[in-house]
Amino acid sequence: MTSREIRQSFLDFFASKQHRIVPSAPVIPHGDPTLLFTNAGMNQFKDVFLGKGKRDYVRAADTQKCIRVSGKHNDLEEVGYDTYHHTFFEMLGNWSFGDYYKAEAIEWAWELLVKVWKLEPERLHATVYKTDEEAAKLWERYLPRERIHYFGEKDNFWEMGETGPCGPCSEIHYDRTPDLSGGKLVNAGAPDVIEIWNLVFIQYNRTADGTLEELPAKHVDTGMGFERICAVINGKVSNYDTDVFTPLLDAIAAMSGHKYSGALDDMYAIAMRVMADHIRTVSFSIADGALPGNEGRGYVLRRILRRASRYSRNLGFREPVLYKLVQTLADTMGDVFPEIREQQKTVERVIQAEEEAFLQTLERGLEKFDDIARRMESHGLQRISGADAFLLYDTFGFPLDLTQLLARERRMVVDDTEFATLMEQQRERSRKARKIALQEVETLAISSQTEFTGYTELQTEATVLHVHGNQIVLDRTPFYAEMGGQVADKGMITLGGISYTVLDVQKSGNAIVHICDRDVEPLVGTKALATVDKRYRADVAANHSATHLLHEALRRVLGTHVQQAGSLVAAEGLRFDFPHFQKVSPEEIQAIEEMVNEKVRENIPVRTLELPIDEARKIPGVKSFFGDKYGDTVRVVVIDDTFSAEFCGGTHVRSTSEIGVFKIVAESSIAAGTRRLEAITGTGVLHYIAQLQQRINEQQRSYEELQQKLKQLEKELSKVQVHALTQQVQGFLAKARLANGGHLRVVAEQVDVAHIDQLKALGDELRNALGKQGVGLLASVVEGKVQLVCVATDDVKERYPAGKIVAALAKELGGGGGGKSHLATAGGKDIHKLPSMLQDFAAFVEKF
Ligand code: SER
Repeated sequence: MTSREIRQSFLDFFASKQHRIVPSAPVIPHGDPTLLFTNAGMNQFKDVFLGKGKRDYVRAADTQKCIRVSGKHNDLEEVGYDTYHHTFFEMLGNWSFGDYYKAEAIEWAWELLVKVWKLEPERLHATVYKTDEEAAKLWERYLPRERIHYFGEKDNFWEMGETGPCGPCSEIHYDRTPDLSGGKLVNAGAPDVIEIWNLVFIQYNRTADGTLEELPAKHVDTGMGFERICAVINGKVSNYDTDVFTPLLDAIAAMSGHKYSGALDDMYAIAMRVMADHIRTVSFSIADGALPGNEGRGYVLRRILRRASRYSRNLGFREPVLYKLVQTLADTMGDVFPEIREQQKTVERVIQAEEEAFLQTLERGLEKFDDIARRMESHGLQRISGADAFLLYDTFGFPLDLTQLLARERRMVVDDTEFATLMEQQRERSRKARKIALQEVETLAISSQTEFTGYTELQTEATVLHVHGNQIVLDRTPFYAEMGGQVADKGMITLGGISYTVLDVQKSGNAIVHICDRDVEPLVGTKALATVDKRYRADVAANHSATHLLHEALRRVLGTHVQQAGSLVAAEGLRFDFPHFQKVSPEEIQAIEEMVNEKVRENIPVRTLELPIDEARKIPGVKSFFGDKYGDTVRVVVIDDTFSAEFCGGTHVRSTSEIGVFKIVAESSIAAGTRRLEAITGTGVLHYIAQLQQRINEQQRSYEELQQKLKQLEKELSKVQVHALTQQVQGFLAKARLANGGHLRVVAEQVDVAHIDQLKALGDELRNALGKQGVGLLASVVEGKVQLVCVATDDVKERYPAGKIVAALAKELGGGGGGKSHLATAGGKDIHKLPSMLQDFAAFVEKF
């Protein structure tokens, strides 16, 4: 049976027992503060059980989306390592609200399993609460005594959470051992004998002080794990081998290139199971309105996502991948739970953004974890301290359970008590810090000093020195502050488990101040991880190094009067202002471009020197900037010893070929005697080409449109012209000569047409106007040649065939032509013969 058929047959069965089939509640229990996630089918009926709410039915059944990752019911640790625990699952359930009780609940469960789904009765066991003789007696109708087992509170007293409806329960277990020897494995956590259905007899409410309160009525609440029953019915040991999971596993296999082996200890198979499981939890949570965050439910989601992301790494993924599975989920579950289809785009976007943010620090965090683990192992310890776990959480965004998981993989444990203490201390610190009135950033500068690490690395671990609103100062940072015409770096800072986007970086005294997208937790003294956006930095560096090359090329092409009067180095391009008294000609621009591009192609290493200022000034041709203050030591950027050396604190490419290609895109004057060049490099040039291409395409399109229009206009013009010409026809008739004793009217005229078609049209007009007894010849000079049209009215066309007449005439003009007897055209080149030909036409016809 397919999973779809199984789900439907469950609902059909209980519908036939007068149950109302209701929709699943959202996985986010809006309105129940005691729960983070819906963890059982009965959650939506809690008020009915407690006697506080009513429904207009007393029996119900459904399939409920459930998540068990926190609180009383939490299966997270098992997921992936076994084949039948999930963080997200569907729970098939049926309920009685003060209506039927134990007898019917047991009878129908048996009927469905054995009669409808045809499970082998010998494989079924029942458990009952230790004092529930009533349930045990009822089971005796179907099962021998030895397959009815008594258990205590832990197994057979079901509670929703710390508080809420509860009661003794009776579970049905399924024995998969070949020889039916599983009796002793019931409730032993063995995969061979698993619980498939739980029938809870709700009679109490657990109150906040822990006491049990008798409820006004007795209810039935049953729950059956859908994924498990699908496996059991289809004779599969693993839930992951059912069609609930195979489409997801197939998708992961296709993307990763690893086959799903199904083995329990196969690292790839574990990773695939975790991903297939977690993506359901995360996607349905988001579809039902939750978002990853730093607290409560949001943090649980973030943890699960990060866990899945770490596992995807085990399969070789280094880019976001989980979000791509949402499509499969929408395809396979969208019919039953339409919200996943409706919210698909949002779900994908949220997951992708989370993955991207986490991947930025994952690599470094894993290295850090390795260092820590190795250090501990070298001391013979199989333990990660709470402080180290906290560092990983704080700086690399590793949730505790991720660290625990990594530890477990190395057979280590994590001191979670110490971790919890440190977390609490941090909360306390940040509460206090918020209360203290914070100093302004300007005054921080006096006391703070930030070491800039960004010349050699793009990611730095640092300590938080100061926080003020959305501004943060660290003791070390790879972020370049806006300076010397170069824009600030962009990137991300993580601390307190939160990642902040850095929008701007400014120097204030000796402190480098990062300006973030939102207020930063004031966790002074804690660790932070500062990560510069690599691509952005690379673009800026390319433009900066290109600026140095441009500066020198300008001096060589235009003269040594050229000096930098101002410059801007950004990611998109660069701008360079310099004194010069005329426009830089296109030839000069080309020469400058060529010189720079040659240096780019030469792949020259860019060297930076830190030198005492006196020594630096001795470098031949070194450029420094008048008016700039320099310290005792200066940084000099050298590109080719014989080409460019400049005092510069900026960030550069390692080698000129990283510039890619250099292109000047604008030349202008910004003041008398000051010119400005704008140029682009690498990525910028690619964008530029794309834009040009687009513009060419647009022009091509408008050219084609113009062509069309022109043709149209030509047609219209021609019509107007023909119309104007036809006005002349009456005049031609008036001038007709008579031939054949006055019986035949002969017209011969020269006209002025633009095209032979017009001449033909005019010929037609003339023929019509002649009506009877008429022959006409119209001639025109078009593009240096004579064009003729000859017409004859129907009554004389046998006698004076136009085709033959015109052919004879054309011959005289050194050309040719012919056609029908009523209308024919021809052409010739001897223009000078035309006047006499027209003059003599009547005589010519007469003799024809
Ligand atoms: N509430 C019970 C359970 O979750 C039966 O549905 O197991």
